[in-house]
Amino acid sequence: MKTLLITGGAGFIGSHVVRLFVNKYPDYNIINLDCLTYAGNMENLRDIENAPNYTFVKADITDVNAINEVFSKYSFDGIIHLAAESHVDRSIADPLAFIQTNIVGTVTLLNAARAAWKDKMEGKLFYHISTDEVYGSLGSSGLFTEETAYDPRSPYSSSKASSDHLVRAYYHTYKLPVVISNCSNNYGPNQFPEKLIPLSIHNIKNSKPIPVYGKGENIRDWLFVVDHARAIDQVFHHGTIGETYNIGGHNEWTNIDLIYLLCKIMDQKLSRPEGTSRKLITFVKDRAGHDLRYAIDSTKIQRELGWKPSLQFEEGLEKTVDWYLENEAWLNNVITGEYEKYYTTQYVKR
Ligand code: NAD
Ligand code: DAU
Repeated sequence: MKTLLITGGAGFIGSHVVRLFVNKYPDYNIINLDCLTYAGNMENLRDIENAPNYTFVKADITDVNAINEVFSKYSFDGIIHLAAESHVDRSIADPLAFIQTNIVGTVTLLNAARAAWKDKMEGKLFYHISTDEVYGSLGSSGLFTEETAYDPRSPYSSSKASSDHLVRAYYHTYKLPVVISNCSNNYGPNQFPEKLIPLSIHNIKNSKPIPVYGKGENIRDWLFVVDHARAIDQVFHHGTIGETYNIGGHNEWTNIDLIYLLCKIMDQKLSRPEGTSRKLITFVKDRAGHDLRYAIDSTKIQRELGWKPSLQFEEGLEKTVDWYLENEAWLNNVITGEYEKYYTTQYVKR
C-alpha cells in the first residue's frame, strides 16, 4: 500500500489526475489536499469521493502548521504537486497571490517532504507539475525542449519558473528525490470558465460576445486533459529522478482558428445556422505582455516513457463541448458572485 499526496486535486487537471489514480491504483491511498479557492470544486470528484482509497483534506499549502499536521498524520511515499494559482490574467491583476501560493506554497511542501523523508529518501518522490510558459515566448519557428533556457514573462510564469528552480535546488542541495514536467495548454471537462475554451463555450451558449485578445494571432499547443493525466502517471512511475519531461500535443492553433472551429462545433451542437456563433467574435484589448507562441517538443517523454497523446484536437474539442452542454449545473454553480465580479473587471469595464 502506497500513500500519495496530490495537491490541487479539486482543480481542473488535479481532479483528472486524482480520478485516474484512485481508479487505476486501488492499492494506493490517495490524499487530495486542496484549500478550495474559486478554482477548486468538490463537484469535480463526486464520482470517486466515496472510494475506499480516497481522502480529501482541506488545507492551504502556504499554511506551515496545517501542512506539518498533514505530514505528521500520513506517511507519504510520493507527492504530486499541482496546487497553484493558474490564470495568467489574474496574475497580471494580482501578482502577490501567485508568489504566495506558487512559490511560498511549493517551498512549504518541499520543507515538509524533506523533514518527513530525512532518514530515508529512497523510494520517495516529489513530483512538481509545471508549465511550458516558463520557457517564454517563441517566434514563428522552433519548439521548447527540456534544454530551452527559462525566460518567463508574466507574473504567473515567473512564479512557476521560481518554483521549478526551487524544486531543482532541493534536489541538488538536499538530495530530495524530485521530478518535474512542463506541459502545454490543457483543455477538457471541468476547466474553470476563465480560460479561453470554456469561457468561449459559455459565452456562445448564451449568445454573448467571444472576447479574442488582440488579433487572435497568438498560438498555443493544446492537449486533452486526460492525456496530461496519463503522462503524469507515466512520469510518476517511470520518470528518472532529477529529470524534466516536456508534455505537449504537437497541436498548434492560432486563437482565432481555434475559435472558428469551436464556433462551427457549437453551431452544430446547438442546431443554429452555420455562422451564427462566429458573429459573436469580438476583438478586445490585448493581454499585457501577451506571449506570441508556445509549442512543446515532447520527444523525450515519447521516447523514454512511451507516452503519446491519444486524441485528435477536433475529437477532443467536440467531447469538451458535449461535456459543458451536458453539465449545465456544474457551470451554473461556478459562475456565482466571484466569477461575475472577475468577468466585469476583466472584460466589461476595460
Ligand atoms: P486550477 O486553477 O484549475 O486548479 C488549481 C487548484 O489548486 C484548485 O483546486 C485550487 O483550489 C488549488 N489551490 C490553489 N491555491 C491553493 C493553496 N494555496 N493551497 C491548496 N490548494 C490550492 O489549475 P489547473 O489548470 O488544474 O493547473 C494545475 C497545475 O498544472 C498548476 O500547477 C498549473 O500551473 C499547471 N499547468 C496547467 C496547465 C493548464 O493548461 N491549465 C498547463 C500546464 C501546467
Ligand atoms: O501553456 C500552459 C498554460 O496554459 C498554463 O500554465 C496556464 O495555467 C493556463 O491558464 C494556460 O495559459 P494561457 O494564458 O495560454 O491560457 P488562456 O486560456 O488564458 O488563454 C489562451 C489564449 O487565448 C491566450 O493566447 C490568451 C487568449 N485569450 C484568453 C482569454 C481568457 C483570449 O483571446 N481571450 C480570452 O478571453
